[in-house]
Amino acid sequence: MTPATHDAGLRNLLSVRDLDAAAAVRILDLAEDMAEVATREVPKLPALRGRTVANLFFEDSTRTRLSFEAAAKRLSADVITFSAKGSSVSKGESLKDTAQTIAAMGVDAVVLRHSASGAARVLADSGWIDAAVVNAGDGTHEHPTQGLLDAFAMRKRRHADASRGRDLAGLRVTIVGDILHSRVARSNVWLLHTLGAEVHLVAPRTLLPAGVGAWPVTTSSDLDAAIADEPDVLMMLRIQSERMHAAYFPHEREYSRQWGLTDERFGRLPAGTMVMHPGPMNRGLEISAKAADSDASVILDQVTSGVSIRMAVLYLVLSGAAAGA
Ligand code: CP
Repeated sequence: MTPATHDAGLRNLLSVRDLDAAAAVRILDLAEDMAEVATREVPKLPALRGRTVANLFFEDSTRTRLSFEAAAKRLSADVITFSAKGSSVSKGESLKDTAQTIAAMGVDAVVLRHSASGAARVLADSGWIDAAVVNAGDGTHEHPTQGLLDAFAMRKRRHADASRGRDLAGLRVTIVGDILHSRVARSNVWLLHTLGAEVHLVAPRTLLPAGVGAWPVTTSSDLDAAIADEPDVLMMLRIQSERMHAAYFPHEREYSRQWGLTDERFGRLPAGTMVMHPGPMNRGLEISAKAADSDASVILDQVTSGVSIRMAVLYLVLSGAAAGA
């Protein structure tokens, strides 16, 4: 076990690189149990009654914030939500003071999204608060619950009713687009590698990070060749215009022509290839509406999986239960 985990369970979730394969599979298995809860007439468990989860979102979010809220409520925890917009952050209040202010109201876990890479680790290691910390996306560093929910959605579709206990050995995953700015790509690369999958990255050279040579991946700039290679999963990434302070490609039309999943490219995908996107999507830029709305698309399954994975993670950090329980 790594410093993120201890015999009693998961202390924080800051990075997928803190999870070995057994710990990751246990989270995926527990998420399967949590998914079963959603099918009940009353989709709720009393497991975290009396515990309080604070969502601290310093960056915008739809999926992550709402699914953490749904996850906490399905486990009967109380939830308080902070959005930087409209808060005292506009008056200059720091992360430390914001976190301590919310912790002083009595919280057991903080779910943090922040624009600074490493913010969740800083909060967890600082001693500013006693609550467990779950990283909900820190800058361009990591988005561990996204990596876990993507693995969960892949595992479910690959193994249908027999996914429990499985890793993703041999699964061929191609991730396409703005790798440079993508915390989703980083969490997927490291977690998929841990789970035994083979990862190929496709991007314009300008959107590949300088250090990508040290990642457990192959890379290219040729999406058509990658499609001809018949991947099991094609994961399209959002172009993160809000993080781009330079021109990384000449024009959106040019990007779409070379690196977009257009209708024509979608038509060349082998039957059974899963089409994924973490959302929010730029339809018509990195992915066509036809591809996004097709039977091959796992995009809404990814969202549903997010609730189950976040229930599992909150349960593990708050219940003190062993990851294998
Ligand atoms: N995938 C994801 O993190 O989406 P949100 O930004 O809407 O949370």
